[in-house]
Amino acid sequence: MTSGARTLILIVIIAGPAAAQQRPCDPPMPLGPSHDLYCIELVPAPGITGVSGRVELAQPPGPFTVAVTPEGRSRYIPIVSLHGLPPPSSLAKSARAAYVAWAASPLMDPVIELGEVRNGTTALRAVDLDKFIVLITAEGDRRAREPGGRVVLRGQSPSTRLFPPDLLEFSIGAIGQSPGAGRHEHANSAAAPDSLRWPMVPMPRGLTMLPAEMALRPHVTPYLPGGTAPAARPRELMRLADGDTLRLEAGLVRRSLNGGGRSYTMYGFNGQYPGPLIEVARGSGVVVAFTNRLPESTTVHWHGIRLDNRFDGVSDLTQRAVAPGGAFTYRVRFPDAGIYWYHPHVREDVQQELGLYGNILVRSPDGAIYGPANGEEVLMLDDLLVGESGPIPLGQESPTHALMGRFGNLFLVNGEPDYRLAVRRGEVIRFFLTNASSTRTMNVSFPGARMKVVAADAGPFEREMWVESVPIAPAERYVVHVRFDRPGRVALVNRVQGLDHLFGRFFPEVDTLGTVEVARERVGDDLAVSFAALRRNTATTRELEPYRRFLHRPPDKSLILTLETRGLPPVTQRLMQLDSIYFAPVEWSGTMPMMNWASTGREVRWLLRDPATDRENMDIAWRFHRGEPVKVRLVNERLSFHGMQHPIHLHGQRFLVLAVNGVPNDALAWKDTVLVPAGSVVDIVLDPSNPGRWMLHCHIAEHLSAGMMMTFTVE
Ligand code: C2O
Ligand code: CU
Repeated sequence: MTSGARTLILIVIIAGPAAAQQRPCDPPMPLGPSHDLYCIELVPAPGITGVSGRVELAQPPGPFTVAVTPEGRSRYIPIVSLHGLPPPSSLAKSARAAYVAWAASPLMDPVIELGEVRNGTTALRAVDLDKFIVLITAEGDRRAREPGGRVVLRGQSPSTRLFPPDLLEFSIGAIGQSPGAGRHEHANSAAAPDSLRWPMVPMPRGLTMLPAEMALRPHVTPYLPGGTAPAARPRELMRLADGDTLRLEAGLVRRSLNGGGRSYTMYGFNGQYPGPLIEVARGSGVVVAFTNRLPESTTVHWHGIRLDNRFDGVSDLTQRAVAPGGAFTYRVRFPDAGIYWYHPHVREDVQQELGLYGNILVRSPDGAIYGPANGEEVLMLDDLLVGESGPIPLGQESPTHALMGRFGNLFLVNGEPDYRLAVRRGEVIRFFLTNASSTRTMNVSFPGARMKVVAADAGPFEREMWVESVPIAPAERYVVHVRFDRPGRVALVNRVQGLDHLFGRFFPEVDTLGTVEVARERVGDDLAVSFAALRRNTATTRELEPYRRFLHRPPDKSLILTLETRGLPPVTQRLMQLDSIYFAPVEWSGTMPMMNWASTGREVRWLLRDPATDRENMDIAWRFHRGEPVKVRLVNERLSFHGMQHPIHLHGQRFLVLAVNGVPNDALAWKDTVLVPAGSVVDIVLDPSNPGRWMLHCHIAEHLSAGMMMTFTVE
């Protein structure tokens, strides 16, 4: 074959499906969504011939790229495609016969009627069972309440593939204890054994660990700041006018966690936790005179702000890192109203985890971007990993927890473990939520109070939407309005489904982040009427109009999210391989604590790969033209060694999420960070409005520190 002919065939293959929206049940494509995580192949029951079918587990439309119940169970719209069904009356002798689809737990309790189906494609009622089977039956009556007729087709949700691995293999110690096995090199070979230098990490309740797992330690030097420092103070509000100067200092602070009388040396901005809350008007600009009083180099990055490239705070790209004792002057302009944040852009896995982050609230001078509220709360959500003697040390040379990121066990709201708010009955509170954690995607809600989501990272939604919970990934922001109309106590909770990898089961996890005390006394200015209505933001709709057509265009650029490992301990290697039979869309909690902890940036390299050039991470250098929108397809590779979600962030620009696994997004808002679930494909359209050389990276701090970053230039 001539190379010309080969090129031609290649073009045909790529151009065909890439142009369309690739769906999970379409014939599998290298840059498509995962077939085996989001498509169920139906199997004909014995005695049934000539019939076939599939069920796409589609992303329900909504404001988020991952759909979950308030309890954290995945929610899908099953879209059934059936072929070759004979007339239903041939299988169920009745004039009213019909085919009906059902979802049931593996033990057939509960059984949920999904709706009538026929040959062709039918979208059914949403399913939110952890593990389920799908049945298509021929019923004598289409209104059947439970499956009584003949089973025609059946299938199982991808999550049912989870099963306990052969525990025997591990319990007899074949892995991790044989002479010369990697464990010895990894855990015990250094002059001072890692196991002596590292304190034990806390274990999540109810999980079983194998002895070989328990022996794992990260092969890097533990680091925690030492020395004395002034006690940290709660953050202060800094209202800055155009041209004002803010003195910002990163330094050591003493923090008491859990109020237990003990205190620990951590990091803080201006001696506060979080850093000062900066409030400015849209269109204004401020000078930030920054000084580094940390024992290590740092920078300040202004996350989500479309500022002058020189002040973006990325070490070795836009500036040299500020050495201990050094200073840098940032000039920051705020062109867009919304909630933003700042944090270092050097070893986020260490510096952000130790407390360096703060919010920026950019007000719109006309004040009209949100509906009315009685009060406002700006909340930074975080989770810190602490053991019996304070924060678990961080990796000095390279991050620990490089596989899944460092999940914490102490939940913090604005740096405090017990956030409290007192409101009067009927009050509507506008919450500005920022997830400042290293890796944890949270699923937050106020059970018992109604909530609507009004804005995302960098702007309001076209229309407000009722939501039962907000899945919020690291670095994402959402603005929600919540009305507290019943007196008593309402908790702010993170509710998710953890995955017990060893036993292949899901289990509920509930973390309380704070409490709202609702008084009997009614609020004077009752906003019940305006709260009950979902506002439309016509200005946003008009502004976003030119970008909508990109939904139907082929992507200009694609990016594969994956990883590479080397020299992982055999027990980790083996357990992770068994685990790869199924990946949940989101890994909500750290249920492989030892294997995860012991994996460092030396063994794990997270990758962004451009399939057009095969370049990876910092070797990728995309070029865009200012004012020419670019469609980017983010492909979270299913076949990687460990599939999980990645919150992908682009500096200095904003984008819209167009589609998830081929399902068009009907809730547009400007964003700068998007959560790409495991095995999923997310299409975004980028508005390259701000010239300069910028970063694109995963915002899981350990993934970033393990290489998952690249640059792009806007000319
Ligand atoms: Cu908050 Cu480069 O990121
Ligand atoms: Cu990542």
